[in-house]
Amino acid sequence: MTNIVILISGRGSNMQAIVNAAIPEVRVAAVIANRADAAGLAWAAARGIPTAVLDHKAFAGREAFDAALAGLIDGYMPDLVVLAGFMRILTPGFVNRYAGRLINIHPSLLPAFTGLHTHERALAEGVKFAGCTVHFVTAELDHGPIIAQAVVPVADDDTPETLAARVLVEEHRLYPEAVRLFAQRRLVIEAGRVRVAGAAEQGA
Ligand code: GAR
Repeated sequence: MTNIVILISGRGSNMQAIVNAAIPEVRVAAVIANRADAAGLAWAAARGIPTAVLDHKAFAGREAFDAALAGLIDGYMPDLVVLAGFMRILTPGFVNRYAGRLINIHPSLLPAFTGLHTHERALAEGVKFAGCTVHFVTAELDHGPIIAQAVVPVADDDTPETLAARVLVEEHRLYPEAVRLFAQRRLVIEAGRVRVAGAAEQGA
């Protein structure tokens, strides 16, 4: 069984998709938010999932917040930490502590459009395809080894909102699939790139 802790900052629809996927190899040990008003907390709590809030504003800086966050996470003994709309930049110390077992979803086809306002920027560039990326987290923002991507077409009359909605449908499909592959020990990092091992290679 793979124990996971999911970190959110808001509505938590990706967290919900992972929970709803009911992956046989996965147990959601906790959902943690950095904001007490994160809507996803109530959703998780209503399903009997332990929840916790760690308000970043109560800490003097990133180092102190990340140290407290790691302490909280480690109490749940996760095999995997899943960032699902967790809108905090994490310190290298935090990222290195969870090397190879910290993943994120980003609403663009990385390495294009790292950072914020991805859909606005994609539309401004006139790209014809957009999408989302699940990746291992490294110290460089939105740059870790790519696990999986999904592509959607961009329509001429798209707004950031319509494009975001189309991408979000794919996020909800892609993220549970990536978590499942991790839990099946099928994600192999080789030379900074991820290879998805076949089912027969499980545990390779
Ligand atoms: C998702 O679209 C996710 O890809 C994005 O925030 C949204 C969270 O939605 N994450 C980032 O932009 C990270 N840089 P959710 O709370 O409903 O899952």
